[in-house]
Amino acid sequence: MHKTTLITGGAGYIGSHTALTLIDAGQHVLVLDNLSNSCHESIERLEHLAHARVDFIEGDIRDTALLLRLFSHYDIDAVVHFAGLKSVANSVSHPLDYYANNVVGTLNLCAVMARFNVFKLVFSSSATVYGEPAHTPILEDSGTGFPASPYGRSKLMVEQLLTDLALSEPRWSIALLRYFNPIGAHESGLLGEDPNGRPNNLLPCLTQVAIGRIPELTVFGNDYPTVDGTCVRDYIHVVDLAEGHLKALQVLHSDGGLHIWNLGTGIGYSVLQMIRSFEDVTGVSIPFQIAPRRAGDIAQCWADASKARRELGWCARRNLAQMIEDSWRWQSSNPFGYGHAVQLSAALAR
Ligand code: NAD
Ligand code: UFG
Repeated sequence: MHKTTLITGGAGYIGSHTALTLIDAGQHVLVLDNLSNSCHESIERLEHLAHARVDFIEGDIRDTALLLRLFSHYDIDAVVHFAGLKSVANSVSHPLDYYANNVVGTLNLCAVMARFNVFKLVFSSSATVYGEPAHTPILEDSGTGFPASPYGRSKLMVEQLLTDLALSEPRWSIALLRYFNPIGAHESGLLGEDPNGRPNNLLPCLTQVAIGRIPELTVFGNDYPTVDGTCVRDYIHVVDLAEGHLKALQVLHSDGGLHIWNLGTGIGYSVLQMIRSFEDVTGVSIPFQIAPRRAGDIAQCWADASKARRELGWCARRNLAQMIEDSWRWQSSNPFGYGHAVQLSAALAR
């Protein structure tokens, strides 16, 4: 039987790109996803790009009986754990869903892993755990802050849970990957981000304005102490991020303990800079209006990713123009994402 990497949440945005990167690197993967924020079409496209069938199970990480069956049936030796809910705004109105999926789900997964002597885990954490940073760029040992939402706090809780686990048992080998702002899409235009309803994040809003699904962009606040008054973030190409997971897994196979790595580019761009770059790269103009600040936003953050460079031999290779170009290719080839009438054959024909 093949050694298998279980990818929870592998039908989603970052998980599907990571699944492809791992398959391309010769790994056998098993995807588990409850499709609460994704759909089977992403798996079909993944299979098309991988030129292989992908083992996919529709199910929930909170379903212990299902996990027990999967771990019995497959020779799982590592888990890359993306499954969880991720909307900051939704987490404020539905905190229990966030703690149940993100915290209880992870706890359940780890308990089953331990039962089957599987101790290698890569976890999708977030720069949100730093809260409002005292200094930029942010180093991993800057200390965590008080995340502004139940979503952010669920990520911090899971980090703490996994830290305790690693301290309790030396066989655990855990990577906490703190992502900055993932954007972009696979260069084929077949995999990308497909938010449910009106998006919250900047890039999907920009591309949906450009495609005409949203009339204009709202810029939340222009009175921050930043280069032009708008918030600054470290945007990273999703394929660079996926490659970071591959490198992290490789290190976990040789090195135990708990590791924390920032995955970012080290470069910050303001919202206005993003709008201008988007217009330059795509030639599409973006109407926008300035609105009051959005609750919970911090002024600026970007990564010091030198630890990942040193310890993983990883760095982000794709620049902002490429991120925007790929996001735009994805959005313009799939105006309504994976759903509706747009299926693989139609996307391929574009
Ligand atoms: P996504 O919503 O596209 O992917 C998450 C996937 O998990 C979805 O396919 C969803 O259906 C699945 N899922 C949710 N709850 C589940 C459950 N209980 N059991 C099984 N499957 C479940 O999100 P993404 O952008 O790909 O994010 C992946 C991970 O990275 C998440 O944990 C997210 O919190 C984290 N993260 C994302 C960002 C970002 O900006 N995208 C930033 C930092 C961290
Ligand atoms: N923004 C706008 N208009 C929009 C959407 C966003 O001006 O329509 C601004 C926001 O106010 C913010 C910036 O664009 O200043 C980036 O916002 P995003 O929502 O794209 O990203 P965030 O930095 O708020 O959060 C993202 C993820 C979190 C993750 C965090 C890690 O959504 O899950 O990055 O840095 F925790």
